[in-house]
Amino acid sequence: MKTPTLFTPLQLGALTLSNRIVMAPLTRMRAGMPGNIPTALNATYYRQRATAGLIVTEATPISATGHGYFHTPGIHTPAQAEGWKLVTDAVHQAGGKIFLQLWHVGRQSHNDLQPGGALPVAPSAIASGGQSPVAPGIFKTQPVPRALETTEIPTLVDDYRHAAALAQIAGFDGVEIHAANGYLLEQFLSDHANVRTDRYGGSLANRARLLLEVTAAVTAVWSGERVGIRLSPANTFGGIQHKDRLGTYRHVVNELNPFKLAYLHLVEPRVAGNSDLDTFDDTLSSHHFRELISGDTRLISAGGHSRASGVQTVESGQADAVAYGRQFIANPDLVARLATDAPLNSYDRTSFYGGAGQGYIDYPFLSPQPSVT
Ligand SMILES: Cc1cc2nc3c(=O)[nH]c(=O)nc-3n(C[C@H](O)[C@H](O)[C@H](O)COP(=O)(O)O)c2cc1C
Repeated sequence: MKTPTLFTPLQLGALTLSNRIVMAPLTRMRAGMPGNIPTALNATYYRQRATAGLIVTEATPISATGHGYFHTPGIHTPAQAEGWKLVTDAVHQAGGKIFLQLWHVGRQSHNDLQPGGALPVAPSAIASGGQSPVAPGIFKTQPVPRALETTEIPTLVDDYRHAAALAQIAGFDGVEIHAANGYLLEQFLSDHANVRTDRYGGSLANRARLLLEVTAAVTAVWSGERVGIRLSPANTFGGIQHKDRLGTYRHVVNELNPFKLAYLHLVEPRVAGNSDLDTFDDTLSSHHFRELISGDTRLISAGGHSRASGVQTVESGQADAVAYGRQFIANPDLVARLATDAPLNSYDRTSFYGGAGQGYIDYPFLSPQPSVT
């Protein structure tokens, strides 16, 4: 029987992936403190999962104001880049490839996590309505944020550039710009979260401007063939609303084409954040954007994939690769399990966020097969 294409190599920008199974970005909140610095524990976790065709790291704040969850690793200090080097070395030694996800949470934060206890920053002074985990077991309501001044935007873009440069020092294979799940870049895209009257608000072209400026800054550090972008056209997490989702995201995908990116990573409408939905708008499924993507830019589909849907999605040409999130938490050897159709470990939600090695590096691998004598 023919090997499903999901398990075959893929040229993704400058990289040749050994298979089309991507480890989705997964926030786990286990950085070394103080300093939000990755440690040997984090290196072990990622090394265990290095058989993924590509690992995309957990979302990683590009600046001190970009943090919105406790104990998330950053990429804004030299010490954090040093810490990430442990991770990239471990993954590379195990034969894997790894991109860093660049993150700014915008309004999805709380003063407790901000430098000097200041208000979180956002396109406009409109609260998300959500809560932030500010310390283990403690959630606080996200306040009405402070709207960024127009004159602050170049510094924000420069923070992305600086973080992208630190990611190179840290030894990553490339970076993914996080423009999904209701964080800063999606807040700018939304005509509900963004009511600015300057060149970053109002028209669709204006609301997409920050994302495109960030993409220009990041692709000036890494060439486009080592940069991906994550978008979630159907997302409502973080209080996100749009009057015209399809129009917004068709515009964004068209405007990203000139950057000749390695990939677009689209979150399917059947998931919201880290949970499944019963009803969703299929017109926002990733394959509807495929016809708009030009050149060699690949499409990665994420959200709610099983073995069968992953195989089918790639076989039918709806996407070039498939990302798995929750299944990678519980199955370090997910690729081997999917390839042999072996049973999967089930994930434990209570250990998703925070803590140490339990629920992080102790999920079992498939037992070694008995040798035939
Ligand atoms: C524990 C957890 C943490 C997550 N953290 C991130 C993140 O840091 N960045 C991101 O873009 N998505 C994040 N997500 C969303 C996943 O990348 C993925 O889109 C989602 O889990 C749906 O895929 P799945 O059904 O394969 O799990 C997270 C999901 C979970 C369960």
